[in-house]
Amino acid sequence: MTKTTLHIPVLLEHVLRVFSRAEKQIFLDLTFGAGGHTRGLLNQNEKSIVYALDRDPHAVELANKMAKEYPNRLFPFHARFSELTSLFPNKQNYFDGILLDAGTSSMQLDTAKRGFSFRHDGPLDMRMNTSTQSVTAYDLVNRVDEATLSRIIRLYGEDRRHRKIARCIFQWRSTFGPITTTTQLANVIQVGLGGKTSDVDKLNRSIHPATKTFQALRIVVNDELNELYNGLEQAYTLLKSGGTLLCISFHSLEDRIIKRHFQGIVLHPDEFSSNLEGTSQRSEAEKQLRYDIQTKHVIQADENELDENPKSRSAKLRYGIKL
Ligand SMILES: C[S@@+](CC[C@H](N)C(=O)[O-])C[C@H]1O[C@@H](n2cnc3c(N)ncnc32)[C@H](O)[C@@H]1O
Repeated sequence: MTKTTLHIPVLLEHVLRVFSRAEKQIFLDLTFGAGGHTRGLLNQNEKSIVYALDRDPHAVELANKMAKEYPNRLFPFHARFSELTSLFPNKQNYFDGILLDAGTSSMQLDTAKRGFSFRHDGPLDMRMNTSTQSVTAYDLVNRVDEATLSRIIRLYGEDRRHRKIARCIFQWRSTFGPITTTTQLANVIQVGLGGKTSDVDKLNRSIHPATKTFQALRIVVNDELNELYNGLEQAYTLLKSGGTLLCISFHSLEDRIIKRHFQGIVLHPDEFSSNLEGTSQRSEAEKQLRYDIQTKHVIQADENELDENPKSRSAKLRYGIKL
């Protein structure tokens, strides 16, 4: 049994500073998780209220419990980003602040049976909502052909060794049968890549050789990039002019979509992951001016936060004010 830790909200002080006002505000937290950001917003100003969303039923359970501590101030919803406008058909130009803290929570990553991480031995699952989603990481690892697997790892893991990784997974399953658990998959990849226990990333930080493959599988299982892109487009319509959109991302694919959204570049789904350099060359005429961007440079965790919460190391915060 692994111990499930409650998620520690990242960059909380910055989030609260951005949304700090004396008057009442109505917030939409698109990623409730364990509710750390929501709680901060509710405590910061006793007049403010938060509508909070999550696609994970476990997170919504936590939100329902927290709602009892804040009567008539916290309203939980079980939904995905891409369902926003149908969830709130009468709330166009309504919210003062919208927060999106992308990715997975510690409760998801650290619960072995959810199968998100090779740090805990569990079934290859990775679904954020196990009751409505049917495709699991097991299906991708064991049922798709080698070329598709290689493409998934290239596009959504951005791992140069995608062919080699897909090859060793394919060879393993053809010889020994399905790969069923997270640690088994991590070992197959590690052995297939020559047995090294860690690689270094662009910033010289040590990472397990299976890290990017796990990211790729999780993104596809949960359709994360489409969700993010559609969520941002829909959130824009719900945000008031003068309201603030704040987004925190954890890897470059998410950050690119968020950055392009703030810049007003409408992306085609093929542009989510493949070489996106072309999109930054687009003429001003092709861009829709939608936000006054407040973060010329992204905000990241400082040394203190990194010491207390190593998971904050890849977090990047951007925010802008709707024009
Ligand atoms: C990083 S955690 C958020 C943590 C939260 N800010 C806190 O302080 O505890 C991300 C959460 O977003 C949820 N999520 C991810 N994609 C989603 C989507 N498309 N729609 C709704 N919720 C989503 C996940 O289930 C997860 O609980």
